[in-house]
Amino acid sequence: MKIGNLEIEGYAALAPMAGVADRAFRELCVGYGAAYVVSEMISSKGVSMGDKKSKALMQLSAAERPAGVQIFGSDPEVMANSVKSVLAVQPQFIDINMGCPAPKIAGNGGGASLMRDPILAEKIVNAVKKVCGDIPVTVKIRSGWDDMHINAGEVAKRAENAGASAITVHGRTRQQMYAPPVNRDIIAEVKKSVSIPVIGNGDITDGISAAEMLESTNCDFLMIGRGALGRPWIFQQINAYLSDGRILPEPPVSERMHIMCRHIQMICAYKGDRIGIHEARKHAAWYTKGIHGAAAYRRQLGQLESTAQLEEIAYKICLENQI
Ligand SMILES: Cc1cc2nc3c(=O)[nH]c(=O)nc-3n(C[C@H](O)[C@H](O)[C@H](O)COP(=O)(O)O)c2cc1C
Repeated sequence: MKIGNLEIEGYAALAPMAGVADRAFRELCVGYGAAYVVSEMISSKGVSMGDKKSKALMQLSAAERPAGVQIFGSDPEVMANSVKSVLAVQPQFIDINMGCPAPKIAGNGGGASLMRDPILAEKIVNAVKKVCGDIPVTVKIRSGWDDMHINAGEVAKRAENAGASAITVHGRTRQQMYAPPVNRDIIAEVKKSVSIPVIGNGDITDGISAAEMLESTNCDFLMIGRGALGRPWIFQQINAYLSDGRILPEPPVSERMHIMCRHIQMICAYKGDRIGIHEARKHAAWYTKGIHGAAAYRRQLGQLESTAQLEEIAYKICLENQI
């Protein structure tokens, strides 16, 4: 797939996920074959005002390329202005969030709220594209605001007209949040309505669901969110299935625990032990999902205080699962 003049190899990208897909997780996923990654969403207002947290969120390392930075907001001028600072971290592209359903974002006119105002959405893409020059701009949308207002095709067309180089479609409305099965028909419809690449997103959890998304929508590429939580190796599984039909099994428990410990050590290295251990708790819960006796382990992992304790629990899990 080509996003503007950026050549992307592979099949699937890691979705932007606030509070989850940070530098550590993105690097890990790239290591397992994610074709590209996108930063956590970053407030255009925050960046424009020089907010330290926003600045920290937009940093990209050499080990997580190609990578885009995602911004959210509702004011074309503020969005465009923020991009001037974002470009300093040399992202391969800028992604505009038009899908976040959270009241804090959509309630302030940003994220999925832009699906209700296609003209404003177009103005934003236009303003951001002007600042970006040759750096591609991509847009991530939902199917619409609610069932009565399914307009992904229109928003995608307007984004394309304003200079977007690719569109990611999460096939759910804002009202649906993350719950009902993804509507692939709307992704297929967007694919028919634009000539830039369309990236299909929603409910891809393995090679088979990845192939189904490609076949049923004719989309150009895939984006994986929750399917990668506690399972960064999903990219390896998808790549193996789509390239030659191989179904790679889930790694054995011992390997999963090893990857979990490595992931959490990376978070601690990048954010410090205090924040790292706190954030480790949710990741650990995902890594232990489906393991025999997981509920009891999760209770222990939920009270994690140190990496030494994490390694102790991981070792115990390996022993108790006899691998
Ligand atoms: C914890 C979490 C955080 C998310 N944060 C973002 C975000 O910052 N920007 C964005 O565009 N979408 C965000 N999303 C939505 C995902 O990128 C993706 O569109 C959605 O989860 C559907 O894909 P999936 O079924 O593969 O998870 C988030 C989703 C989750 C679960």
